[in-house]
Amino acid sequence: MRKIIKRNKTRMSLNKKLLALIVFSVASLSACADTILQGDVKRGSEISVVCGMCHGVNGISNIPIYPNLAGQKEQYLVLQLKAFRSGERVNIAMTSHAQKLTDQDIADLSAYYAQLDPKPQ
Ligand code: HEC
Repeated sequence: MRKIIKRNKTRMSLNKKLLALIVFSVASLSACADTILQGDVKRGSEISVVCGMCHGVNGISNIPIYPNLAGQKEQYLVLQLKAFRSGERVNIAMTSHAQKLTDQDIADLSAYYAQLDPKPQ
């Protein structure tokens, strides 16, 4: 009797593991789907004027508490901008700017900042 109960428990936890694996796979797939949009560097440059007020004209910030964006990884920038837009990441200076961005804006801005030289000129 005990043995049967034990076996059932094992099966339950295996099911849970399988469920966790499926949830994780779907989450990973949707994270990949986020990176499909092709960024346009030229358009990113054009719409980055407002961002430059805080992040610097070439993505190198002059303000100690504002991060540099130049040379940052493109997909990381996409994820962070989406996190600000959704409210998952919150910052009083950043959130309102991210909320105005479309998926294409985010792709273009990320492509633009990623290809800039990370060293201050
Ligand atoms: C009013 C100032 C301000 C403006 C304008 C602004 N940002 Fe930011 N941004 C910040 C601050 C401050 C942070 C750091 C937030 C934190 O500490 O979490 C930040 C963070 C970020 C990050 C995350 C960087 C990292 O290393 O994780 C990205 C990406 C970003 N901003 C992109 C942009 C883009 C693109 C625009 C233009 C649409 C923009 N920002 C406009 C102030 C600003």
